[in-house]
Amino acid sequence: MRATTVFSLLSFFLPTAFGSLGGLPNKIYGVNLGSWLVLEAWMLPQEWLDMGGQSCSDCSTCIATEFAFAKAYPDTVDQIFDEHWSTWFNQTDVDALAANGINTVRIPLGYWIVEALVDRSTEFYPRGGLAQLRRGLQQLNKAGIVAILDHHALPGVAAVNQQFSGNCTSTPMFYTDYNYHRALIWTSVMTTLSHVDPTFANVVAIEAVNEPIMDATQTPGYGDFQKNFVKVVRATEFLLGVPTAGYNAMPAPANGNFTAMVPQASGDIFTEEVRSVLLDAFPILLQLGVFGLSKKKTQLVTNFMDVNWQYNNPANPADAAIGPQGYDNHLYYVFGGVANADPVSYMTSICNLERVQNDAALGDSPLWFGEWGLPVQFNTTDAFLTQWADAQKLMYSQGAGWIFWNFKVEKSELAGDLAREWSYLEGVELGYLTKDPSKYNDPNVCVPYIIQPSSSASASASPTSTSASASETTSASASASAQPTTSASVSASEQATVSESTSTQPSASASA
Ligand SMILES: *[C@@H]1O[C@H](CO)[C@@H](O)[C@H](O)[C@H]1NC(C)=O
Ligand SMILES: *[C@@H]1O[C@H](CO)[C@@H](O)[C@H](O)[C@H]1NC(C)=O
Ligand SMILES: *[C@@H]1O[C@H](CO)[C@@H](O)[C@H](O)[C@H]1NC(C)=O
Ligand SMILES: *[C@@H]1O[C@H](CO)[C@@H](O)[C@H](O)[C@H]1NC(C)=O
Repeated sequence: MRATTVFSLLSFFLPTAFGSLGGLPNKIYGVNLGSWLVLEAWMLPQEWLDMGGQSCSDCSTCIATEFAFAKAYPDTVDQIFDEHWSTWFNQTDVDALAANGINTVRIPLGYWIVEALVDRSTEFYPRGGLAQLRRGLQQLNKAGIVAILDHHALPGVAAVNQQFSGNCTSTPMFYTDYNYHRALIWTSVMTTLSHVDPTFANVVAIEAVNEPIMDATQTPGYGDFQKNFVKVVRATEFLLGVPTAGYNAMPAPANGNFTAMVPQASGDIFTEEVRSVLLDAFPILLQLGVFGLSKKKTQLVTNFMDVNWQYNNPANPADAAIGPQGYDNHLYYVFGGVANADPVSYMTSICNLERVQNDAALGDSPLWFGEWGLPVQFNTTDAFLTQWADAQKLMYSQGAGWIFWNFKVEKSELAGDLAREWSYLEGVELGYLTKDPSKYNDPNVCVPYIIQPSSSASASASPTSTSASASETTSASASASAQPTTSASVSASEQATVSESTSTQPSASASA
């Protein structure tokens, strides 16, 4: 009975229902393959030291990133990383994900996986990642798991002092024409691989940029980049024989030879910049041996962080859509700025979350939660983490689903308790997360916390509900107040809202 009650309460908030999008499952039950092809040392502190890395409180000052590592060990970096790629994510992990009902992975990638894009005079990254990506995708495909390719670490660096961006620097240079252009070449190469290379058969979506800087005044040109990103995907598909509604299918006289076809191509997706990107991508594709027409014939889903990720009048990625498109929001309470640091405030906040609805109102639908986890700002019990997992899954499933960060983290003395809150597989092991991801330990977990919409006229709002609804209705400004300016935290790597992280680090990262 109570299940019926909660369902009807929740469905009151539901935006228009949607079916599945492109090749994505109807409901995404996913995990991130973090620290595989973009390594974040805080997630594997012991292995990182064993590899030859270092740990420091300001990650720009020691060997704490792939960039610094490759610079320090030019002769051995490729071999050491190949060993990491083979062991961090392999068949054993795929089997575990399949056994736990995972249907989607989000794969963080660096621009350097397209090796020709790296300017080796000033940029340092390992080589050989593409072969590992091909290997992993094939293993996932056999297990029936689809993949979202996530451009996580962008050329020029897109975030301030974050390991996830590849290089810790206080001056990100991604938001420039030169680096947008390189990111678009990456996009055309990945789109072509996804259509032509049989090892990419289960790739269904490409995400343009992971977590751009939240203050839109610091990301000049990002709105144009969004539009170019979609045009590059669709133009590449067009030349490979995959039509886009509104554009006549073009004959493919040259078997996917962009050099031969671009001069003949017409239509407003073929802007000067798009043409130039395609002509720059083609020699790279030839070098990779990727040549021919699409085997897939269905469009990829283009994917962006949602418009509410940024503040200060951001561009809306919905304005860029041509064909199937999905939106990604990341939510980590542990980094502050979302709710007061106690269990009741967390539950009240999450159970009244309105991000799916607020995004849908701006055209950013379907939305999934592409990063979240169990970390909290306080010492907590197993009982609370079980509720916390259920409540987040319930709310994120109001949208297109969820993708946990991360599929695993290191278990070691140095890592301490890190896995308890950051590892999906550990969370299942400990019983916080149900083995069947579509299930809940308690489907009524939110019932005591749901604030009736009619009660918004202040009188009945308790102190906790007031703070919870305040934090959600003003999520953009809450995030804004937590935007990093001088984050010095090694562990502050995946969050939206970094600045409070020094005082709210997960205990294990603090020990790293
Ligand atoms: C995967 O790597 C782990 C080390 O992390 C190793 O113990 C395991 O044997 C590997 N599995 C396969 C199937 O190679
Ligand atoms: C990488 O980070 C180092 C240290 O902050 C900085 O000196 C360098 O300019 C950065 N390079 C790039 C390409 O971002
Ligand atoms: C692609 O087309 C150009 C122009 O027609 C031609 O010069 C080039 O040899 C072709 N490349 C391949 C790999 O067929
Ligand atoms: C959590 O517990 C540990 C050990 O009891 C204590 O040192 C730490 O201060 C506590 N942290 C918080 C945020 O309460």
